Amino acid sequence: MPKLLLDRFGRMHDYLRISVTDRCNLRCVYCMPEDGMEFEPDEKLLTFDEITEIVRVLAGLGVRKLRLTGGEPLVRKNLEQLIGRLSQIPGIEDIALTTNGIYFASRAEKLRAAGLTRVNISLDSLRADRFSLITRGGDIRRVLASIEEAYRVGITPIKLNVVLMKGINDDEIADFLQMTIDRPIQVRFIEYMPIGHQDEDWKKRYLSLTTVLDRCKEMGWEATASNAVYGNGPAQNFRIEGALGSFGLIHPISDHFCETCNRLRLTADGNIKPCLYWSDEFNVRKYIGDDAAVEDLFFRALDIKPQNHEMAQALMNEEQSHTPTIRRMSQIGG
Ligand code: GTP
Ligand code: 5AD
Ligand code: SF4
Repeated sequence: MPKLLLDRFGRMHDYLRISVTDRCNLRCVYCMPEDGMEFEPDEKLLTFDEITEIVRVLAGLGVRKLRLTGGEPLVRKNLEQLIGRLSQIPGIEDIALTTNGIYFASRAEKLRAAGLTRVNISLDSLRADRFSLITRGGDIRRVLASIEEAYRVGITPIKLNVVLMKGINDDEIADFLQMTIDRPIQVRFIEYMPIGHQDEDWKKRYLSLTTVLDRCKEMGWEATASNAVYGNGPAQNFRIEGALGSFGLIHPISDHFCETCNRLRLTADGNIKPCLYWSDEFNVRKYIGDDAAVEDLFFRALDIKPQNHEMAQALMNEEQSHTPTIRRMSQIGG
């Protein structure tokens, strides 16, 4: 009987999110401060050999799905090469990418040829000026071109990630929903999470995703739960009657989904993170090459994985049971 990545609560982990760099070519307001970030020097980053070794060991423990994240994963040179190597590992069935879409269009073809199966693209506004403000300088035209290119080369389904922020983009909910009616795309609304900071601005901007369903009703659109969307993550999916696409709700704060958590994270500097929210980390780098030791470290990480995060408590200024991470989202990869 092969060993599986089960934690104390019986959750099976078959999904690894790999951050390949903590750097990014944008500075989205909810993810990174405008300046003052310090980045890992290249020699601190796991090499492609090291990442491949870790994934090979984990595939033997039941990991089937990978997602490459950053920072922005496409600022890591030769990412296609890594994807090519990961796709050769027996057991790996799905290799997805979460990207801001700025560099994706010109590389889509090569990424697909290397073995990329899916892409999720961040797009928090459909208005060029607002997009530029949220990303601190991003050009929406490049993201829209990336979406078109993903269709053209056949990397589907395409999902768009929209972090909802009160007073910033909540007046665009209906526009994004309209997009799902017109196009075979999945738009996922995400609750703004306090990762690496729990400041007043976050509390002011946080908005529960019940707002999306309310808006949908106001528009007179009938949305029903849909399980036709392929994914490994926590989104709860819906389709508006007659729509070509669908929408998903990722609501860690108003209604957390930790009881179904199936994922582990690996940071660019080689730390296993059993949970996005808490500070616990286990550096795996020095064990690479010794499969039993790598396995052992992942089991140790799973052994202390808490039952759930406490973002809702942070919102209410209530005391928390462990220590939240001080890493920013860009240093974890979402
Ligand atoms: P698929 O559904 O397989 O396409 O992927 P995904 O939703 O897991 O990937 P993606 O990188 O697009 O994540 C979308 C959002 O969900 C990001 O904001 C993530 O931070 C958030 N997210 C993903 N996994 C978790 C999780 O385990 N806990 C919490 N709280 N948020 C998560
Ligand atoms: N809250 C919610 N989602 C976030 N993301 C980045 N920072 C946050 C945050 N504070 C999302 C991005 C991207 C994914 C990797 O994580 O929109 O799609
Ligand atoms: Fe899993 Fe932690 Fe995310 Fe909850 S917050 S779903 S336990 S990673």
